[in-house]
Amino acid sequence: MSPKGIFDILPKESKSEEAWKESFRWQYLEEVMRSSAKIYGFQEIRTPIFEKTELFVRGVGDSSDIVSKEMYTFFDKGERSMTLRPEGTASVMRAIVQHKLFHPAKYFYMGPMFRYERPQAGRFRQHHQFGAEAVGFASPEQDVEAIDLLVHIYRRLGLKNLTVMINSLGDGDSLTSFKEALHVYLTSHLAQLSEESRVRFSKNILRILDSKETSDRQCLEGAPSILDYLSESSKDHFEKVKHLLSKMGIHFVVNPKLVRGLDYYNKTVFEVVSHELGAQNSIGGGGRYDGLIDHLGGPDLPAFGFATGLERVLQAMQGQHVYFPEPSAPLVFFIPLGQEAREKSFELVSTLRHHGVVAELDLSGKKIQHGLQVAQAQNAKYCIVMGEREIQEGKVELKEMRSRTTETVSLQGLTDKLLVNK
Ligand code: HAM
Repeated sequence: MSPKGIFDILPKESKSEEAWKESFRWQYLEEVMRSSAKIYGFQEIRTPIFEKTELFVRGVGDSSDIVSKEMYTFFDKGERSMTLRPEGTASVMRAIVQHKLFHPAKYFYMGPMFRYERPQAGRFRQHHQFGAEAVGFASPEQDVEAIDLLVHIYRRLGLKNLTVMINSLGDGDSLTSFKEALHVYLTSHLAQLSEESRVRFSKNILRILDSKETSDRQCLEGAPSILDYLSESSKDHFEKVKHLLSKMGIHFVVNPKLVRGLDYYNKTVFEVVSHELGAQNSIGGGGRYDGLIDHLGGPDLPAFGFATGLERVLQAMQGQHVYFPEPSAPLVFFIPLGQEAREKSFELVSTLRHHGVVAELDLSGKKIQHGLQVAQAQNAKYCIVMGEREIQEGKVELKEMRSRTTETVSLQGLTDKLLVNK
């Protein structure tokens, strides 16, 4: 059995509620993501699955849940502390600093991330993200371009009922004064806060804002709003982001309690929520992180990015019954009877494949009925039963599986005939 919270991606799932795991759905989703990234000018970057632990401690922040509770950390044989990446942004910024990729740049990535969380619907210990990071511009267009890319992907996939939530965390000084005000407010409500929020009160007070506990939510009703503490430049930035989003036709909801779970953000943060997904309803999110590259030893470059979880997108797609293209099925399936027919079928299948046709044959040596069942299960369009007689006469019956109609075709002309139908 595989460890808790991880799963295999198989061509076919036996349980219909697990259909979102089927590999052809992942391939389709990945293709839509890749091609959309290309349209928006983002190039692929692939960073390693593990990094030095200190990268995530510095990058994501040690007061975040990810770093303090959820990392898969191990010592390698050289006694160095390594961590399976819990997210992609820190690694991409590390690569940018290491390779001095300091010109304005736009990167995307796709791959597994690892977080030791309590598994539940939509929450896994290995999950997959598609992420995009744009580096080099402090202007609001950079925020909106990335949000637009994510929304474009969801729209292309046919997802509906999504809400884009946005907020601004402001910049250094305004955030500090807001945290102070929140501290003062919550000091008088400490007794009503949940246990987890009481821990966060001293460790990471902002995270109390997005607590889902009813008692916390009630407590927060009269709390100060971060938007009242923004500096002039942050306020201006946020207004422009909202203006541009409206111009792009992206409907959004301002949520002053949205703070996100990673420590590197400033100014704009956003999250896309799907109403089909229950508790783990955030399918994507991100924001601006202007100080991170500097913090990791590079120059002071502004940046904005997001990531979306492939599992949650696939689950939302399944929940909304949106379209998935059919997995590729054989155009033709051969059922050979006897050694000579087996060789001839093998040769024909190989020739067809060389011409780019999906072709299969039954190598089991079992009866015709078995071959027909396999052809049907594989959703083959045509089927050919080939025995000694067919080889002697130089012709076969090409049977269309769905209509059950047959047509006699010469062995010589078979490849051409099938290529026309490719
Ligand atoms: P994040 O919100 O932690 O952001 O993760 C991004 C997305 O990954 C989430 O919206 C969710 O869909 C998915 N996800 C996260 N954890 C799990 C899990 N345990 N199981 C299933 N899906 C999960 C980041 O990781 C940031 N690096 C995003 C970013 C990029 N910000 C700026 N640039």
